[in-house]
Amino acid sequence: MRVAILTGGGDCPGLNAVIRAVTRACVSGYGCDVVGVRNGWRGLIDGEVVHLDLERVSGILPLGGTILGTSRTNPFNEPLGPERILRTIRDDAIDAVVAIGGEDTLGVALRLGDEHGVKLVGIPKTIDNDLSGTDYTFGFDTAVHVASQAIDRLHTTAESHNRVMVVEVMGRHAGWIAVMAGIAGGADAIVIPEFPLTVEDVCDLVERRAGRGKRFSIIVVSEGASLLWRSGIEQTVTMSAETDAFGHVRLGGVGSVLAREIEEITGYETRVTILGHVQRGGTPTAHDRVLATRFGIKAAAMVQEGAWGMMAALKGDSIEAIPLAEAVREYKLVPRELWELARTFFG
Ligand code: F6P
Repeated sequence: MRVAILTGGGDCPGLNAVIRAVTRACVSGYGCDVVGVRNGWRGLIDGEVVHLDLERVSGILPLGGTILGTSRTNPFNEPLGPERILRTIRDDAIDAVVAIGGEDTLGVALRLGDEHGVKLVGIPKTIDNDLSGTDYTFGFDTAVHVASQAIDRLHTTAESHNRVMVVEVMGRHAGWIAVMAGIAGGADAIVIPEFPLTVEDVCDLVERRAGRGKRFSIIVVSEGASLLWRSGIEQTVTMSAETDAFGHVRLGGVGSVLAREIEEITGYETRVTILGHVQRGGTPTAHDRVLATRFGIKAAAMVQEGAWGMMAALKGDSIEAIPLAEAVREYKLVPRELWELARTFFG
């Protein structure tokens, strides 16, 4: 049997750990041939496939990024995209594809399976942790770790200068990174898409702290949050209006607008830090390495069982196979209970 591995969408710490685990299990455990697809769905469309063996995946466990490369290619937006994928699968004698990705990549996997009969198994990946059906995605823990370390560092300089520090973190549809890093870093306010605070609410929290003698504050904001005012006005901030192959605009900059407003309304000196892709790069945490490895081992077993159209998912303490359709049906949002917990520490 020949198994192809593909990494799609934004990269994420732990991708190489998955590639290693799938390859090791398929080659040593099941006696399969393994190939890697270059640059996500792009490589399957263009027939860019490379041989993977134990030697090639040796030493990659702690490496960030993906040795296969990735892209945000959507085959259903490409001329004859699915047909060209079928041709590569036939020409390279590929029996099964392990697709590692988030909502977009796995959505394509689901369609290729349902509409074109491609034999696929999915593995959930995104630093945003917004995929349904799995308790956590790998990469998220690393992103939270990076963001909370940044908050710790910003705390000391905020206190020295009596400033308000706004920290913008990633999270397109959901505020998971903001809430978790905010709790870990002791944020004084957290602005996320699910439970928006108005700009005035944030300023009130800053003033409340000042009333207690704390003349500095840390405000964490998700890149995907819009700014709300008590008047009902809502402002969405994006880096550019251009959309990618899946229709997503480039986010970024909401933190800068929020910082400007806070300074204007409260009069407190305010600075902004946009963490951006720092959260996605570099070596995965031990937690993400283990989770990625467990997903990889499970996906290799699912290929042997012919569990097509299914995804490896974390459910409590175990890794289970769930339908891909369940994972991409809706975004997994921050639950109210977690938000309320974070809110206890505001202001
Ligand atoms: O989907 C993960 C993510 O990191 C989002 O949080 C962010 O908006 C997006 O990717 C950034 O994508 P790109 O790397 O294409 O700029």
